[in-house]
Amino acid sequence: MSVIENSKLTVVGAGSVGSSTAYAALIRGSARHVALYDVATEKVEAEVLDLAHGTQFTGTSDISGGSDLGVVEGSHVVVITAGAKQKPGQTRIELAGTNAGIMRTLMPQLLEVAPNAIYVIVTNPCDVLTVLAQESTDLPPERIFASGTVLDTSRLRWLLAARAGVSTSSVHAHIVGEHGDTEFPLWSRATIGTVPILDWRPETGGPLTADELDRVAVDVRDAAYKVIQGKGATNYAIGVSSARIVEAILNDEHAVMPVSTVLQDFHGISGVALSVPSVVSAAGAVPIAETAFDPGELALLRRSADALRGVAASLR
Ligand code: 2OP
Repeated sequence: MSVIENSKLTVVGAGSVGSSTAYAALIRGSARHVALYDVATEKVEAEVLDLAHGTQFTGTSDISGGSDLGVVEGSHVVVITAGAKQKPGQTRIELAGTNAGIMRTLMPQLLEVAPNAIYVIVTNPCDVLTVLAQESTDLPPERIFASGTVLDTSRLRWLLAARAGVSTSSVHAHIVGEHGDTEFPLWSRATIGTVPILDWRPETGGPLTADELDRVAVDVRDAAYKVIQGKGATNYAIGVSSARIVEAILNDEHAVMPVSTVLQDFHGISGVALSVPSVVSAAGAVPIAETAFDPGELALLRRSADALRGVAASLR
């Protein structure tokens, strides 16, 4: 439970991602108070009711919400999920124009009622929207960041854990860069326990090969497209990933997570939001400057940066 007495999380957006995030936070007890805000009154009130009806069986967290901005007041963390979602085959970047407009309207309103909150952007393209939101609100970069590749890293660890025959918590590997098509694994530092990943000897299936790791990276990058094709959206995994980020903030954990912040001279990269291993605490998210990249990985990170810089510029 949070180190902040009476901690409050507000989730903005009562669509499938927002309501799943609120649901995950209730079940995990991520915050003492969970609120759900959306401009669609009937929808948000129904989601709040449906969530409240199960609170006998969840933890001590309570749920409230509605379409009045007053719902957001006093939030310690605000998770933003509002916006259009990918259609089958659509890239996250293709949502930029529509969702940038929603963010432009939303951010000043939220800051009015929750000026001291930490803001976590989930709406896609989350990296680009983080740059625009940070610029427009002038919040310090550590206080407004995106969930980034926390979800992609969870997908990577799930695949590698199954192949290596270990718990996901024993897979130490990260997806970094864009939360999108230019993301990539930091293989140079990936280990199972303390064993470099290519030296790991699974009990079955033989050693992992570089080709196999390349295929795993593609499966992770394309995972959302597959889920969206089948069910129209992703929601459970991003919901629980977002609740986990909220916990690291409210518990002041100083947990290392690959969230996306506007980088400032990170290996020479500035002015673009990308996911790199960062320390997440009550102060927000701070990239770990000492994170090592081999030359190939640094080139990929720069490619991610170049891909996103142009998109943000086109929306200013
Ligand atoms: C995901 O990766 C769509 O960004 C969302 O599941």
